[in-house]
Amino acid sequence: MPRQPKNTVPILEKPRGGKGSRSLLALERDRDATLGTIRELEEAARSIHERGFTARSFDTISSVGATLDEMFRRHEELEEDLLFPELRKIDPALARSFSEEHRTTRGLLGTLHSTIRDIEGGRIHGSSVGDLLRTIRELVTVLRRHIIHEGDVLAPFIRQKSRGKNPGIHDN
Ligand SMILES: [Fe+2]
Repeated sequence: MPRQPKNTVPILEKPRGGKGSRSLLALERDRDATLGTIRELEEAARSIHERGFTARSFDTISSVGATLDEMFRRHEELEEDLLFPELRKIDPALARSFSEEHRTTRGLLGTLHSTIRDIEGGRIHGSSVGDLLRTIRELVTVLRRHIIHEGDVLAPFIRQKSRGKNPGIHDN
């Protein structure tokens, strides 16, 4: 059974019936919040890189990482359930590439989570801080690129779909 985020924002909940247009519009609005959370994670990692490891920066990474994990889980569920089945009919290659980016992101979030747990549990430190920063760097790059690309390409598609029109896709 999928884990339910503790603080699910009502507007991001999956729709009960209907075409899910409200959720699709929420997905679009959630883009800026996700980019902001990515920035917070990046800043905490930069602080450790420039000023050394501190409990405060690590705690920020731990809590922001958990928030980002929940945000991405919602993002992935909404897109895979509501958007990509439609997108696949129009542009299957594009839908495949977005799904592949979701898998890559999910893997990086899993690595981030396990590295954080290892450091918290005192099982490893030293080199693992380097691993932590590398994972964050890669995650930030992959996820930011994904959110911006999807925002540019999918925003018109989402708006048309939410108005009940036949959507089209124009990738650059
Ligand atoms: Fe996505």
